[in-house]
Amino acid sequence: MNGQTPLFLQIPLTDGAKCLAREAADGWREFCNMPTNMKQLFSIGDEDPVCDDGYRMRNNPGEDPKEFFHVTHALLPELYDRFRRCERNHPRVRTMLAMADALLVEANEMAYQYTEHLKRNAPGCENLTRDIFAHGHTATLRFLHYLPGTKSDILAMPHIDKGGPTLHLYESDTGLEYLDQGKSWRELPLGGDLTVCFGGLTQQYVSGVPALCHRVIATARTEAEGRFSIVCFTELPLEPKIKRGIRLSQFSAGFNYNMSKSELSDLFDV
Ligand SMILES: [Fe+2]
Repeated sequence: MNGQTPLFLQIPLTDGAKCLAREAADGWREFCNMPTNMKQLFSIGDEDPVCDDGYRMRNNPGEDPKEFFHVTHALLPELYDRFRRCERNHPRVRTMLAMADALLVEANEMAYQYTEHLKRNAPGCENLTRDIFAHGHTATLRFLHYLPGTKSDILAMPHIDKGGPTLHLYESDTGLEYLDQGKSWRELPLGGDLTVCFGGLTQQYVSGVPALCHRVIATARTEAEGRFSIVCFTELPLEPKIKRGIRLSQFSAGFNYNMSKSELSDLFDV
């Protein structure tokens, strides 16, 4: 890996993102308090087990239960339509969708700042901005809620994301950590007016910037109240996909930090 290339970058939250993230998080908390049958009205493609569009509850054996809600600009018309069809539509859901719509635009701006910084400072990233933003990329906002009553010390096991830049726009508590290059766990420095942006495995394949290994640990507060967060994932639209059947969770934490491009190519359909 390139010794000069940072694993993540702190990015100032845009003025819009500061209030939008707060409002969207409030809306998400209220959404989570709604009855299950109302929440499930927003599960798009519910019959498809691999589809994660809209709202989902996950309660897999061995994992702490969580619920999440995926929003993209392409999904918004369907989500608004479902909101209108609710018998007793909840004004907070309307607010949450509107905030998500605007937050996707702000997240785009911050991801752009990140790739432009890499373009100027990291060899191999010269075309990253163009490769993402000139080809109709998809940005996905993920509202996440780990339910209270944590059983384990770790809410999200160590992992890397799959695609391009990831932004953590809102975290209700501390506990988001990254693995540094010496393989020690450290707190990701976000909060106040700053967020962090880091790349996923496809970005590493394209640019050489290592995908950041990260995890979420439980705290006394998350055990009592749960944990709420908002993350934005950005895809690299033209790049090869990770091979079907490869589960990144099967690899050890930080496995990718020293991998060459040819080693990485074994993981992709190229
Ligand atoms: Fe992640």
